[in-house]
Amino acid sequence: MRTTTARAYPNIALVKYWGKADEELILPAAGSLSLTLDHFETTTTVVPAPDASSDVLELDGTLADAGQTDRISTFLDHVRALAGRDDRVLVRSRNSVPTGAGLASSASGFAALATAAAAAFDLDLNARDLSRLARRGSGSACRSIPDGIAVWHAGDDASSFAETVPAPDMRMIIVTVNRARKAVSSREAMRLTAATSPFYSGWVSSTEDYLEQMVAACAAGDFTRIGEITESHALRMHGLIQSTVPPIRFLNPTSHAIFDAVAEARENGIEAYSTADAGPNVAVIVRPHDAEALAEKLSGFGDVRVVGPGPGAHLLTADDEVPPADAATTAAGEGSRA
Ligand code: PMV
Repeated sequence: MRTTTARAYPNIALVKYWGKADEELILPAAGSLSLTLDHFETTTTVVPAPDASSDVLELDGTLADAGQTDRISTFLDHVRALAGRDDRVLVRSRNSVPTGAGLASSASGFAALATAAAAAFDLDLNARDLSRLARRGSGSACRSIPDGIAVWHAGDDASSFAETVPAPDMRMIIVTVNRARKAVSSREAMRLTAATSPFYSGWVSSTEDYLEQMVAACAAGDFTRIGEITESHALRMHGLIQSTVPPIRFLNPTSHAIFDAVAEARENGIEAYSTADAGPNVAVIVRPHDAEALAEKLSGFGDVRVVGPGPGAHLLTADDEVPPADAATTAAGEGSRA
């Protein structure tokens, strides 16, 4: 085993993943498609701790709580099973995205962890198997393994992975409305949706239709069709989520005002389309030459950042900047330095 560091970026879905066919294997009820960003990265170091009795997780310089550590340990159990080893590890992770605020920190987090842990445990995985592994941490994380625009295939354990598809260049404007941690996790909200929404089966079949159209629109470089599907599918997802019992609402009045402002910009000649994940923040896709002008128009709603297609998850070498050791190094004791 060796100490490794990996970096991954969040992705924002243009065709959303919402609902599982298998909870344990994290297989989606339908495929999805996303843009991996070139900002808001997570950098994760995995340090072997052979003498430690449990894994230790340090998030942004602070020891993580039991719930977060258990989730990482369950994922690492899967890595250990693949490697045929039993070693505990120290995981040090730094996010440049607000954790749990609907900006997909779980995607960059598990993509970085899967990449670092696979290398730390000497697993020689190809891109497809690394994506399958990241999927076991958080479904959407499998889409942060490949570069740029990625499609995540529904299927069985062997066939459910994400890969890059050809698509036109575009920018995304992230409007951060609220940095607070969301009240309901995606995992819980998905469960409630499948269990209580009368619209769930229609959602799954219409997602399959949209995904097929979206992949074709990407291949054809048809930005208008990509945008129309993106906005429509996002609003369907939020409609679906609001139809649960009890209802859940992730969008707030500012989120709705941004959707309206983007529709108005469209009428005035800037072609752009909105989407939002499980939180109030809004992501707007736009052609590269319109990005700065639209970002300026949206700046009154919150922090605005123009981002572009980013790289897939990758290992950092000793020459790259690696985050410093702190709290957890001490907590993991002697083992962490082994
Ligand atoms: O992978 P999870 O469990 O964080 O779920 C992600 C769900 C959405 O972000 C709302 C949609 C998506 O496709 O990313």
